[in-house]
Amino acid sequence: MKGRICIITGSNSGIGKETAIGLANMGATIVMVVRDQLRGEKARKEIVNQTGNSSVDLMICDLSSMSSIRHFAEEFKKKHDRLDVLINNAGATFSKREVTSEGFERNFAVNYLGPFLLTHELLSLLKSSASSRIINVSSGLAKNGKVDLDDLQSEKNYAGTKFYSPSRAPAYDNAKLMLMMFTYELARRLKGSGVTVNVLMPGFTATNLGKNSGSLSSYIMFKMVRPMQQSAKKGAETSVYLASSDEVKDLTGKCFAKKKEVTSCPASYDEDLQKRLWNKTESMLGLAPDRSML
Ligand SMILES: NC(=O)c1ccc[n+]([C@@H]2O[C@H](COP(=O)([O-])OP(=O)(O)OC[C@H]3O[C@@H](n4cnc5c(N)ncnc54)[C@H](OP(=O)(O)O)[C@@H]3O)[C@@H](O)[C@H]2O)c1
Repeated sequence: MKGRICIITGSNSGIGKETAIGLANMGATIVMVVRDQLRGEKARKEIVNQTGNSSVDLMICDLSSMSSIRHFAEEFKKKHDRLDVLINNAGATFSKREVTSEGFERNFAVNYLGPFLLTHELLSLLKSSASSRIINVSSGLAKNGKVDLDDLQSEKNYAGTKFYSPSRAPAYDNAKLMLMMFTYELARRLKGSGVTVNVLMPGFTATNLGKNSGSLSSYIMFKMVRPMQQSAKKGAETSVYLASSDEVKDLTGKCFAKKKEVTSCPASYDEDLQKRLWNKTESMLGLAPDRSML
């Protein structure tokens, strides 16, 4: 991975941090994309000390803010003339419905809309750097998700993680399903470009996920299940594999778990819905057709 530039969002903690360690150990240049300078700098120092790789940079971006993403992408392009790997890893879950200052529901913004826009903003660079790779970190919970094009932001029917019921899928699960569908649609659009895009399910992992969900009961639940969870290092293995292995260099539009290709939930393969979701997302982001990804 020497000389390869890898962006990893949410790399100050959990799976993202272990992914950064794994790729730094292979000699890659890491750009940690985090929302908090202090937490990011602490993690950056740990990664440099642990790996002996000093090519670990820190950049700030709040993935729930579309203006922050646009600003970050501009700054990144001023500093770097290539991008080999983009790992859309940052994620979060919220119990209560919250809306960002730009008017987006938070689960939707962080777990789907943000990665969609970040990929869009960096796509020309990824293409000019081909062969290059995009890796989206989804979740096995996507199988509970539903994509309602008339209620993408759960205005009518919100469920936080702790209120799961079969008739109301949690907004987190919906967003992770959308991220999978985005992956498959993007892979079709990128055919022949030298840019691959795959999605993965890291498995049940001991990280900080759920800590900031705003609900004491989910926080306690996350603590209680700790013994059943794999380590963050284990949870990062598939991300590291997809970013670096020659075995997958030409594979695109696939889902992975435990470093193996797997089938994702049936709903994720609905091509008609993938296209309609794509078009709706572009219009929500104000991406005119001539500025659209492809
Ligand atoms: N842990 C699991 O069992 C599991 C299972 C399936 C999928 N996943 C997925 O794996 C990915 C990594 O999560 P994790 O388990 O490693 O959890 P984590 O330890 O909480 O890490 C999540 C990372 O995302 C960052 N993040 C959250 N909101 C952000 C925002 N608005 N802008 C920028 N960064 C933001 C966090 O930053 P802060 O530290 O500043 O909050 C943190 O660095 C997520 O996409 C998650 O959905 C996890």
